[in-house]
Amino acid sequence: MASKTSPLIQFIGVLCLYFTSVTRQTNKNDGKMIRFWHLLGLILILNIPPIENVDRNNFKTCDQSAFCRRQRKYKPETSPYEVDLSSMETLANGHLQFTLLNTLKTHVKFQLDLYTLEQNSLRVKINEINPIRKRYEVQSVLVGEPKLVKVNITKSDGNQIEGRFDKSARFLLNAKPFRLDLFTNDIFVMSVNSKNMFNFEHYRKKPGSDGTPAEDNKEDNEDGMWEETFKTHHDSKPYGPSSIGVDVNFLNFENVYGIPEHADAFALRSTHETDPYRLFNLDIFEYDINNPMALYGSIPYMLAHNEHATVGFFWLNAAEGWIDVQNDKLNTKNLFSTITSFFGSKSNNENNEVPEVSTHWMFESGIFDGFFFLGPTPNDVFKQYTTLTGTVPTPPLWAIAYHQCRWNYNDEDDVRGVNNGFEQHQIPLDVIWLDIEHTNGKRYFTWDTSKFPNPEKLQDDMAIYGRKMVTISDPHIKKDDGYQLYAEAKSLGYFVKSKDGSDFEGWCWPGSSMWLDYFNPEIYKWYSQRYSYNNYKGSTSNLFIWNDMNEPSVFNGPEVTFPKDLVHFGGWENRDVHNLYGMLQHMATFDGLLERSNGNIRPFILTRSFFAGTQRTSAVWTGDNAAHWSHLKMAVPMLLSLSVTGIGFIGADVGGFFFNPDAKLLVRWYQAAAFQPFYREHAHIDTARREPWLFGDDNTRLIRQAIEQRYTYLPFWYTLFRKQEKDGVPPMLPLWANFPSDTNTFKTEDSFMVGNGLLVYPVTDADVNQVTVYFPGKNSVWYDIRTFVQHNGSETALINVDMESIPVYQRGGSIIPQRLRKRRASMLAIHDPITLVVALDRNNEAEGEFYLDDGQTYNYRHKHEFIHRRFTFKNNELKSTSVDNSARFETDAWIERIVILGYPKNPARVTINSGDKQAIPLHSYQETSQILVIRRPGPSVTADWTLILS
Ligand SMILES: *[C@@H]1O[C@H](CO)[C@@H](O)[C@H](O)[C@H]1NC(C)=O
Ligand SMILES: *[C@@H]1O[C@H](CO)[C@@H](O)[C@H](O)[C@H]1NC(C)=O
Repeated sequence: MASKTSPLIQFIGVLCLYFTSVTRQTNKNDGKMIRFWHLLGLILILNIPPIENVDRNNFKTCDQSAFCRRQRKYKPETSPYEVDLSSMETLANGHLQFTLLNTLKTHVKFQLDLYTLEQNSLRVKINEINPIRKRYEVQSVLVGEPKLVKVNITKSDGNQIEGRFDKSARFLLNAKPFRLDLFTNDIFVMSVNSKNMFNFEHYRKKPGSDGTPAEDNKEDNEDGMWEETFKTHHDSKPYGPSSIGVDVNFLNFENVYGIPEHADAFALRSTHETDPYRLFNLDIFEYDINNPMALYGSIPYMLAHNEHATVGFFWLNAAEGWIDVQNDKLNTKNLFSTITSFFGSKSNNENNEVPEVSTHWMFESGIFDGFFFLGPTPNDVFKQYTTLTGTVPTPPLWAIAYHQCRWNYNDEDDVRGVNNGFEQHQIPLDVIWLDIEHTNGKRYFTWDTSKFPNPEKLQDDMAIYGRKMVTISDPHIKKDDGYQLYAEAKSLGYFVKSKDGSDFEGWCWPGSSMWLDYFNPEIYKWYSQRYSYNNYKGSTSNLFIWNDMNEPSVFNGPEVTFPKDLVHFGGWENRDVHNLYGMLQHMATFDGLLERSNGNIRPFILTRSFFAGTQRTSAVWTGDNAAHWSHLKMAVPMLLSLSVTGIGFIGADVGGFFFNPDAKLLVRWYQAAAFQPFYREHAHIDTARREPWLFGDDNTRLIRQAIEQRYTYLPFWYTLFRKQEKDGVPPMLPLWANFPSDTNTFKTEDSFMVGNGLLVYPVTDADVNQVTVYFPGKNSVWYDIRTFVQHNGSETALINVDMESIPVYQRGGSIIPQRLRKRRASMLAIHDPITLVVALDRNNEAEGEFYLDDGQTYNYRHKHEFIHRRFTFKNNELKSTSVDNSARFETDAWIERIVILGYPKNPARVTINSGDKQAIPLHSYQETSQILVIRRPGPSVTADWTLILS
């Protein structure tokens, strides 16, 4: 299929590139034209077919997706689905099974499995009984078999079964019609099929295929059921319709969150006048913001929050999905007369109306496998979801520090030059990244030896500065018999197959390419072994990995990805498993990096595509954003949506990937991202260089300050990541996670929390000298981390800002560990002394934690080599105690400074008791600002000690 590019065409391509570089130097502003010529040049040289129009017409609307069209219009007066209660079987403690019937098509029977799970969670599975084709059930997502708990059947009559389980959970299963109501603490929170939209398309024979005339079977022959065409792409649909729709309704809630990835609001909008939110992993070129289009990853998980409860619904399904969201009012007057109270405090208003968010979920295939999390607190829900899908393991310390990336750092001299720039300008840095151009013609696991003749030496040299490197490794494999990886995979039959059984071939960066079928465990293992030092020549223990383009991106495929009828291992169509593909690649990469260190060193992987469970192995970034203020602003809601759905190690490209940020935008982006979990600057190949020192001394200083702030707070970040591994609580949080009853925070997306200690309000507008900050929480107090000015909670304040300002506030009641000594890289600072910032609340109390380990191995798990301290300030005493007495970690780190904010008076005497030793440290007090600073001698971070103020 691939024609070789003729020398003449290549020559014209070179001319285009030459023209591009000349124009770039002479005319800075005409970015669009430059990109056009550049792209044309690349196309001609590399023989890449043009990426069709780079606008949203490349991607389907619901109307252009036959199953979405069918499901969206399905709205019967009453549901034809009924549960046959007489069929109930108790298969285990906590597992009930029923038959579900469609009364309009009685020959089709469904099995409904109901599992009551530990931690107030319920699982409901609905599948066809004896389908003519087996339906796909998602693999690789759950961390194990969910643990069942006993259910008490508290009511059972002809039409209803009620069960209570775990701490405060209750379900009510209504038979005719099928409806499932869920309660937490006896508050009615969720309802399934109360809008009658449950609609399960069973597998069927194609009308006419058994000799009967097609007209006899009209409803099985709707438009798009048996084939469908989008633009020039034909989807053969060999198995016909198979979609499932269901309504899940959140009662007495006004806000729902989650279902990433979309460049849209954090509190999800009503889709009344737009397309539904789409879940289908796609490489969308220059994505638009404020719309429900699909992006690179999918998490079919939604949370709802109000002042009484936080709940969640997760539908484990990897097919293409669409979700409608609607804000409704529900009249409760004659509803459920048998139940007295279920709406919490709002139940008795005059018109018997409560708010409701109705959601309509539609997936193209698979089964219904719904998990319902009944909270009732935000932290309960974080725990419930991550108990099933896993938490983010504590990353290596350097991975949460600052990363410098660009498409591309061109050669070894360029990399050394960038490293020297950071040295010369005294800006901390932990990692330098290499994008696709470092390879030999986009053959991953190889190097362009003219530009990178000695990659091991380069990595060793960076290691002298305490720095790591990351190289990119994409899933497309260049079709080239001379490329060993390709030749081997080809001969082993390891590539995904077209519907006719031949190896699927498509276009990506290297030109004609093929893709490995990670769904086959043998291929998955083989791929992970490519990361061994032996197989990946030029890699060292200081090299880590970036998996990009793994939706996967196929330039000439339908919607720039795999065709739906492509076939994976086990005979599953891409239709069934699409959203899992990227995750399998980065899981295999993780296994490979783990294996190469014999399980000793924590891997680091960044992925663009993701699914539920990605958090266990990979960090995620928001893909190809742009250097616009609106994209800087959008990063917060996008990151919050990922955070609350378990993907906690996340960031957006600093500066914006496409286009050139001006100095102001770049500085503001550095400042905002200094307080977001993954902190990396990255830029497109067509942008001007933008290392931190290229914008004048003033801006260099501002960027340095922002990055230094990040390093100052690394002990706090690291402690939060450890908490995430243990409890599933992400480090970056919406305000409502810490202030669940403060209704002013439910739609907040201009500010966020780091742990429960810092409130961050990034400046995301070009020309402002004031921002309006809402301080959450009644009776709370907040301290500006720069000026220490106090602000009261439950109040909005106008804050003056200049270019130095990063509006960040420490919550009164928190204690935050910091490292104030300046270092070039985080790993060099592990044993540095610690400063504790104690911010007192209205009762003059505070608490916090500090976690420390070697920053890179698994010894914290296997050998208990870590320190985990708890600090509490109460009754004028600050105590340091151990959270885990079995833990040991050798360090000479000590507490060099304690800063107490909001302390009412200058203490006459300050003593520190540690064991039988007593010390009298120096202290100073500022009356106007109420700051008490205590200096050395300080105790070791490993010791128990008490500071007494009298
Ligand atoms: C189930 O019933 C038993 C016996 O009546 C009772 O002790 C237990 O607390 C009940 N459990 C739940 C979750 O309601
Ligand atoms: C904050 O609240 C405290 C206690 O209610 C009050 O004394 C103080 O005046 C308030 N400060 C401001 C700036 O409103």
